[in-house]
Amino acid sequence: MSAQTFKAMIVHETADGRFIQEIARKSLGDLPHGDLLISVKYSSLNYKDALSATGHKGVTKRYPHTPGIDAAGVVIESASRPFTAGDEVIVTGFDLGMNTPGGFGEYIRVPASWAVRLPQGMTLREGMAYGTAGLTAALSVSKMEKSGLKPDRGDILVTGATGGVGSLAVGILAKAGYRVVAATGKLSEKEFLFKLGANEVVSRDSVNDTSGKPLSKGLWAGAVDTVGGNILATAIKSTKYGGVVACCGLVASSELSTTIFPFILRGVSLLGIDSAECSMDTRLEMWNKISHEWKIEDIDVVASECSLEDLSGKIEAMLLGKLKGRVVVNLN
Ligand SMILES: NC(=O)c1ccc[n+]([C@@H]2O[C@H](COP(=O)([O-])OP(=O)(O)OC[C@H]3O[C@@H](n4cnc5c(N)ncnc54)[C@H](OP(=O)(O)O)[C@@H]3O)[C@@H](O)[C@H]2O)c1
Repeated sequence: MSAQTFKAMIVHETADGRFIQEIARKSLGDLPHGDLLISVKYSSLNYKDALSATGHKGVTKRYPHTPGIDAAGVVIESASRPFTAGDEVIVTGFDLGMNTPGGFGEYIRVPASWAVRLPQGMTLREGMAYGTAGLTAALSVSKMEKSGLKPDRGDILVTGATGGVGSLAVGILAKAGYRVVAATGKLSEKEFLFKLGANEVVSRDSVNDTSGKPLSKGLWAGAVDTVGGNILATAIKSTKYGGVVACCGLVASSELSTTIFPFILRGVSLLGIDSAECSMDTRLEMWNKISHEWKIEDIDVVASECSLEDLSGKIEAMLLGKLKGRVVVNLN
């Protein structure tokens, strides 16, 4: 099989330090060693992919490189149980798409310990509509609930609500019975957020407090923050007594400037969320929830589809904060 070639996005670094994305052919021999050779049917676009595809060395150190931190497909060759040829699997995170060639190519080769079996009742395409973003949203809700959050505690804020993680957090929280307040920079997308189950849509500016006060009125029982920076600081100081804030993203900023007052006067908890390295037990628990009680009825409300050839335009839009929901990459 090593002579076989396949189509992939390849990101090249030019001599003058620019990064160019092209769709070209690679050989199976270019893939690293690994237990599973997987024919990728679908991938999806995550913020980390947009960074990798544009040369962010904090994500990808070596180029040329094929991004894609998510992949769903069929096992072609397996050197490790319990997987055998023909199994449908999902791979998200670990090093996939970072310094290991990722899901923006028709084949990947990965350790078996990175793969989960496609959950029952879910298609490969649906699996990628969730992907890393869905896993992250589910981890956020789950960790908040394990810290005591319940629907009767009050409103839950979701920031960056039209984004991949944000929109799936809105959908999952609504499914789990919470009253969701979606904060967005795209008020024109109110209907999209209401369709996903948001009860209220507010502007990004209204959750970005610049007063300098250490505490604001307690509004939220919980918050899923996908943007970081002052919006995360605002979410923390606007959370009610005993509330929980899940921190999972940095599109606005990786900085966090806060005081300790929300923590010591209101007992607020700040929860860190990591989907890339989380344990296999946790992954299986989350995929089980995503494919059952937290499954969004019409996932096509959130997910649109594109080809490898269309991906560069989507990456550009994502970095400008212009995308809505999830982009599933069809490699079929
Ligand atoms: N912790 C983890 O394991 C994990 C996993 C996946 C993703 N992430 C992180 O989560 C974040 C979101 O990822 P994603 O894939 O959902 O990205 P995405 O689809 O691009 O969504 C980001 C959303 O944030 C909002 N936004 C964009 N620029 C902003 C700015 N300058 N200030 C405030 N809001 C802004 C926009 O939503 P609105 O227009 O609706 O405001 C945008 O749609 C990224 O930082 C990513 O690295 C972390």
